[in-house]
Amino acid sequence: MAHKDKQEKAGTPHAGSGIWPAGRYMDMRRRSLQDPEGFWSEQARKLDWYKTWDQVLDWDPPYAKWFVGGRLNACYQCVDRHVRSWRKSKVALYWEGESGEERVLSYSTLFREVNQFASALKSMGIETGDRIALYLPMIPEVIVAMLACARIGAVHTVIFSGFSAYAVADRVQDTGAKLIITADGGYRRGKTIPLKKNIEEVIDQCSSVENIIVVKRTGEQVPMKEGRDHWLSDLMKNADMWVEPEAVEATHPLYILYTSGTTGKPKGIVHSTGGYMVFNHSGYQWVFNIQEQSIYWCTADIGWVTGHSQVVYAPLSHGAAVVIYEGAPDYPEVDRWWDIVEKYGVSILYTSPTAIRTFMRYGEKWPQKHDLSSLELLGSVGEPINPKAWHWYYTHIGGERCPIVDTWWQTETGGIMISPTPGIDPVPLKPGSVCFPLPGIDTAVVDNEGKEVEAGTRGELIIKRPWPGMLMNIYNDPDRYQATYWSQFPGYYDAGDFAMRDEDGYMWVMGRSDEVLKVAGHRLGTAEVEDAVVAHPAVAEAAVSSKAHEEKGESLVLFVILKKSEAPSDTLKEELVKRVREAIGPIATPEDVYFVNSLPKTRSGKIMRRVLKAVASGEEVGDVSTLENEASVDEVKKAYESLTQEAEA
Ligand code: WT7
Repeated sequence: MAHKDKQEKAGTPHAGSGIWPAGRYMDMRRRSLQDPEGFWSEQARKLDWYKTWDQVLDWDPPYAKWFVGGRLNACYQCVDRHVRSWRKSKVALYWEGESGEERVLSYSTLFREVNQFASALKSMGIETGDRIALYLPMIPEVIVAMLACARIGAVHTVIFSGFSAYAVADRVQDTGAKLIITADGGYRRGKTIPLKKNIEEVIDQCSSVENIIVVKRTGEQVPMKEGRDHWLSDLMKNADMWVEPEAVEATHPLYILYTSGTTGKPKGIVHSTGGYMVFNHSGYQWVFNIQEQSIYWCTADIGWVTGHSQVVYAPLSHGAAVVIYEGAPDYPEVDRWWDIVEKYGVSILYTSPTAIRTFMRYGEKWPQKHDLSSLELLGSVGEPINPKAWHWYYTHIGGERCPIVDTWWQTETGGIMISPTPGIDPVPLKPGSVCFPLPGIDTAVVDNEGKEVEAGTRGELIIKRPWPGMLMNIYNDPDRYQATYWSQFPGYYDAGDFAMRDEDGYMWVMGRSDEVLKVAGHRLGTAEVEDAVVAHPAVAEAAVSSKAHEEKGESLVLFVILKKSEAPSDTLKEELVKRVREAIGPIATPEDVYFVNSLPKTRSGKIMRRVLKAVASGEEVGDVSTLENEASVDEVKKAYESLTQEAEA
């Protein structure tokens, strides 16, 4: 099995001593599982509540309500709490633009801007419970806007600025957002991304939208519709300096964030306010061992859940100093990130295996140009990290000093679930393993029937009881919520990942067990991509699969059956690639396109992606006894071989 080479004995870097799980961690874990309600209410008391809860957990499977009857405000936790202390003059955000501009916001500046923004939202008629779509680059305003929404109890839905206009329309329609907050544009690799123009393309399909707030970033000319579109700077001029935070119910939704599933339609993951904040506040301390003097940089874009939990809500709830950067990692030079680490004295760096592998390819001469001695702790998230990349990160970035926290979690889990916890105890690490579940998280690895498998055997990763950061629902689609997460193993949360627990109890997450693809750590559903391809008039049928990619982990490979009247051509290939990019965004750019005459299917008509993946990767095709038409495997294979030969020639 592929993970075999990954297993190294505990004893390699940061070995500590003794046998794990042990020590303080084990005490917390025992207590959290014996008395979860007592344990989580202890954690919850670390936040400020307007009213404490009447009930810690109301578990009516598959719906969990945490801290029922309690009232709090997430913006208050992240901002007001700190301006009431000496932290008012502490740095909240260090922002660096791609072209080198800098902005530093103290907690008191953040407080003022958030209040004014909240006042602007109120002037647009926004009320508690209204949905607001954010389509913004990585600039301080995106964080200010999120917190302003939270302040008045409005529900934000952030749309990654690398997504297409169609993705915006989809999400606006699903949420019924009244307001869009965007910018004239954003910078990426020296070019601008025309955000407001993108919205203009689809605004006719967004009938719920009454107003658009536009942040000036690039200064480019953009169409502004009188009465509907407003410059943020104008609204801020007339804004109040104080807006009372709304004391919302713990179960009030804080945000909706869309993620890909196995159908063409992304799922709107709904997170609560109380449980989500409690879970992230405690987990952040356990995993990152955050200290008052820490300078923390999580490189994720705000458009992903990592940006929500690990850039905004968890660190700010601790009053941490957070670095954010607008642009591309290797722009204008490959050492841009290392320059930022040195310049701001970053002590905690949290990033993705894809980024590490990319830098690994450029070579260690780039980090070596910089003094990275401020680093104390490194983190990884989004996909399995291969030991080679782990060691490179450990050696060339961490200077063999810094433990690496490999954190497993999902958009749905709200916060980190499985990870080393140096904030509790030093953990002996194993490169490639996410180590142990956080206190209060009850994981298991099971077979298809839900029976726990033995140590060393691959199975499905499940969570056996609810946790405070658990999603509340899929927006507008409770049936899908039930079917996706709770139908295969009733009563247990089905993560959709393969995992293994080794003999020492360490967890290894080994990729998705469903039809979700992971490209550069980002989730893509096969159906989303296929829908975009099939919409082309020349296409009869299409299947997307993936192959291993040195940096991105996986890359997309399209198999396309053309209509009888059509002939394969390079132009057609390019058109199909362009279609997918337009429908989803550049992250979904297919790496290869193959024209074939049939697709391998099971007797029930399901495409055998395993076969396509093997073919695309040049591997042996395994058991094909359930194939409806075995010939098609050969055919796909032949097509692949000839096309690669052609490409090589
Ligand atoms: C999926 C969730 C959670 C933030 C970023 C991704 C994979 C995530 C790890 C890890 C192995 C990982 C899983 C998971 N994944 N972290 N440390 N090791 N795999 O969020 O888009 O919701 O994706 O990412 O497959 O299910 P997401």
